[in-house]
Amino acid sequence: MPLPSSVLVVGSGGREHALVRSLLGSPAHPRVICAPGNAGIAQDAPCFPVAVDHIAGLIALAQQEKVEFVVVGPEVPLALGLVDELIKIGLPAYGPKADGARLEASKVFTKEILLKYQIPTAAAGFFREVAPALAYLRTRPIPIVIKADGLAAGKGVVVAATLAEAEAAVRDLLGGKFGASSSQILIEDCLFGEETSQLVIVSGRDYVMLPTAQDHKRIGDGDTGPNTGGMGAYSPAEVVTPELFARIEREIVRPSVNAIADEGIDFRGTLFIGLMLTPTGPSVIEYNARFGDPETQVVLPRLATDLLALLWAAARGELGGVKLAVKPDYALCVVIAAQGYPESFPKGDVITFPAPASLPPATFIYHAGTAKNSAGQVVTNGGRVLGATALAPSLAEAAARAYAACDAVQCSSKYFRRDIGARQLNRR
Ligand code: AMP
Ligand code: GLY
Repeated sequence: MPLPSSVLVVGSGGREHALVRSLLGSPAHPRVICAPGNAGIAQDAPCFPVAVDHIAGLIALAQQEKVEFVVVGPEVPLALGLVDELIKIGLPAYGPKADGARLEASKVFTKEILLKYQIPTAAAGFFREVAPALAYLRTRPIPIVIKADGLAAGKGVVVAATLAEAEAAVRDLLGGKFGASSSQILIEDCLFGEETSQLVIVSGRDYVMLPTAQDHKRIGDGDTGPNTGGMGAYSPAEVVTPELFARIEREIVRPSVNAIADEGIDFRGTLFIGLMLTPTGPSVIEYNARFGDPETQVVLPRLATDLLALLWAAARGELGGVKLAVKPDYALCVVIAAQGYPESFPKGDVITFPAPASLPPATFIYHAGTAKNSAGQVVTNGGRVLGATALAPSLAEAAARAYAACDAVQCSSKYFRRDIGARQLNRR
């Protein structure tokens, strides 16, 4: 089967900008379109204003534009069954069906699978009522982690440092803080160590592990302040030595892929495994059913393999035997957010960009929450606004280049962490 000549990418973040650019770089030269996209994606590919949760609208767009392949970025359309609907009309798509998306949409579902197949993960209890949840809390060590079962835009997890904080989180979540998403909660033992993100391209029982990456979840330098969707990332993550990578494959990735298949889920998409590297070994924090953001922005530029061929093979069940070629370079992405994120932040602030020719070599500014105003200026339109990303022969050089790009962007509400990559840089 030849590669598709046209692709629709669904989503509007930095992850989708990276997907669009990698797909455009395919030797097959596909036509790439995006819905809904953002101001930066629109400079690379036609964008159509269809929201990611408007499943019928996305199907109609794919048909109207006669695309041959759909690549789905975010979890919401996956959980709403976009891929199920595309398959019904005979359109190949990359991303799991709703049954696979449940691995992200329900933390209870995932925890049950992890426990059933004895894949390393923290012990946990599940609760719908406050009283038994509070009783369970008193039997567990502190700190302790309280999680909403369902999707909560990354805000449904509280790592409680005291019993009082844990009790408040239980009451908050079961009290309906996230509606149906928190009508059930998990209370999970706290894991200690470094976190890494392992992205895996999965097609049934076949899989390809993407290069290692680490994200920076907290808003502030030195990993302080509230959790965010991710403030920066780098790849490779050298804390994952080749030996540890092999162990992660043996103890986590292969058992996870097989468990999902054994559960009757024909998963064709990205399994993003959030891992804690504990003193006794890697342990699963979560599964996501999609590419990570901003991990994608640092992993894709390092691939020497054609992304289009890779995703197409996965979607068609032809991933067996596919091997990945990876560039030796380091990639680092600094997320530029709007001041106030992840709480409240302004929108509509004008952004002035450096001329591309003035940027350091192999440096690119991905767009995330950007839009055009009526005067045609690019303005902020979300919490995470841009992702300055660089590829270089060393991590230090990649960081220097990405930060040069951050400093050259002008925007009154610009905020970014100054220490992306510092942990790995300081380890040397
Ligand atoms: P999750 O949405 O499950 O990935 O949780 C969000 C973040 O909370 C993770 O990236 C971790 O930083 C933290 N976290 C979640 N579960 C645990 C745990 N069991 N132990 C320690 N930290 C956790
Ligand atoms: N960067 C973490 C995520 O995409 O969920």
